[in-house]
Amino acid sequence: MTLTTDAVPVGDSAIDADWWRQAVVYQVYPRSFSDANGDGLGDIRGVVQKADYLAGLGVDAVWLSPFYPSELADGGYDVADYRDVDPRLGTLADFDEMIAALHSRGIKVIVDIVPNHSSNRHVLFQAALAAGKGSPERDRYIFRDGLGEHGELPPADWQSCFGGPAWEPVGDGQWYFHFFATEQPDFNWDNPDVHAEFLQTLRFWSDRGVDGFRIDVAHGLSKDLPAALPSQAELDAMDATGGRHPLWDRDAVHEIYREWRQVFDEYDPPRIAVAEAWVATAERRAKYATPDGLGQAFNFDLLEADFDAAQFQRIVADNLAQSEVTGSSSTWVLSNHDVVRHATRYGLAPLNGSRVKQGSHWILAGAPAAQIDLEQGSRRALAATLFLLGLPGSTYLYQGEELGLHEVGDIAPEDRQDPAFFRGADPDRDGLGRDGCRVPLPWTSSGASFGFGAGGAHIPQPGWFAQYAVEAEEADPSSSLNVYRRALALRHELQTVEELEWIRTGCADVLRFARPNGWQVVTNFGTEPFDLGEDAGRLVLSTQPVSGGALPGEATAWIAPAA
Ligand code: GLC
Repeated sequence: MTLTTDAVPVGDSAIDADWWRQAVVYQVYPRSFSDANGDGLGDIRGVVQKADYLAGLGVDAVWLSPFYPSELADGGYDVADYRDVDPRLGTLADFDEMIAALHSRGIKVIVDIVPNHSSNRHVLFQAALAAGKGSPERDRYIFRDGLGEHGELPPADWQSCFGGPAWEPVGDGQWYFHFFATEQPDFNWDNPDVHAEFLQTLRFWSDRGVDGFRIDVAHGLSKDLPAALPSQAELDAMDATGGRHPLWDRDAVHEIYREWRQVFDEYDPPRIAVAEAWVATAERRAKYATPDGLGQAFNFDLLEADFDAAQFQRIVADNLAQSEVTGSSSTWVLSNHDVVRHATRYGLAPLNGSRVKQGSHWILAGAPAAQIDLEQGSRRALAATLFLLGLPGSTYLYQGEELGLHEVGDIAPEDRQDPAFFRGADPDRDGLGRDGCRVPLPWTSSGASFGFGAGGAHIPQPGWFAQYAVEAEEADPSSSLNVYRRALALRHELQTVEELEWIRTGCADVLRFARPNGWQVVTNFGTEPFDLGEDAGRLVLSTQPVSGGALPGEATAWIAPAA
């Protein structure tokens, strides 16, 4: 099947409904991006101040992680009010100004919607606590009577995803369910009020000009909890691939998204959505990406893959095949706010033969520095990114990856914020938690918080951030930032028809593909140089210098079509 996009270049027209299909989306973690008022916490006006930077980088859209009022029990993913801005981050007027600043530069805006749970400070949860057992207010969340004579024992032994128990007592014999932190009670999506709350929220932001939504924990909303709850061991043993697990990836969840689609389609162009859905198979993921549902789903396969040609080729082939089934476009992700930055991950010494823990999406953090080859990690990260940017589909970049920024491993316990760290999540899964990729960005090589703001940084920055600062990289033509800029500027020439053709290389470590318009991408995953042959004459971009027509190891080249 051949999928064509509108002739209008992505981002250039307000009426291009397909803008998302091959877009580069830049994730802003607002509290760590840019701090305009100098209080140590990034803010909305900080994004406005960096609008020219984002336009110069060449991204098509910005996805903002939560900026809503929040007690920050989980980095803002504990939302106290879905239709406002955290006063520490600004006001709705600042938000409107940010939309205008980005839109006027051709950049779309995606906001994060967190529908699986609210903050325990949310007015609906406070009402549920006040109203008491059996009330309609409690029915909006998941309350159960405790076991034992006075309800003093939890209704089940379930473990929260961040470690520790998943049921919390409220003092009257009842307990509520929270899959994440204690401060994040799960909603009951069988209750119509919950549907109404989120339909109102989607319209609220759409009316303000937001172009789309990233849906947090999209696979978790629908639940089916029997009167006698299963044990954690029984839950773990249940099939999670058939759409009937009590907690995860239930077929019924798609009824919610069909309802949401009707709201998205009230707008012109329709609002878009991308699902965060950690599900068992590519087939299950595809269900989130249908045109009558959310339309697109994150593909996290590469977060669990090594820097390895065979693994990359298999993942690309599988996901392009899936996108033909759904009619959606593929998404490519190497880093986000939940995982170890890919520059660091690719520099980790192999562990049990693999660089990442099998079956884990929160990849090993905090490996001793001696086990990390920073230069190799940086080289591979840039090569992997340029490989992805050449593929059909949309690529999601995480703030700071354009600088080649590494994970910060040595954050003192008292400076950490991630509940996964404090709740003692399984060390094999989370290690030190996720703060290491959430350290405020360095904009200048010196000065207060490396130009993040006039004050400090809410997570301390290490001294070595100076060499990754935007200012330092702008001055170096071969910096990661400048390679990203050139790639993003060229990328629209590659992205026309959503197809690729693999070209045999005769070398197991080298992947080469051509787009229908003649552009070629060659990535050398090995360490031996690879001869580009006569195509070397049409080389326009490479992540490492090419001399004598040979692409060095751990590098990617973009080759222009023959005249
Ligand atoms: C998602 C977010 C993560 C958050 C969790 C709970 O996985 O990406 O940061 O902790 O949901 O909201």
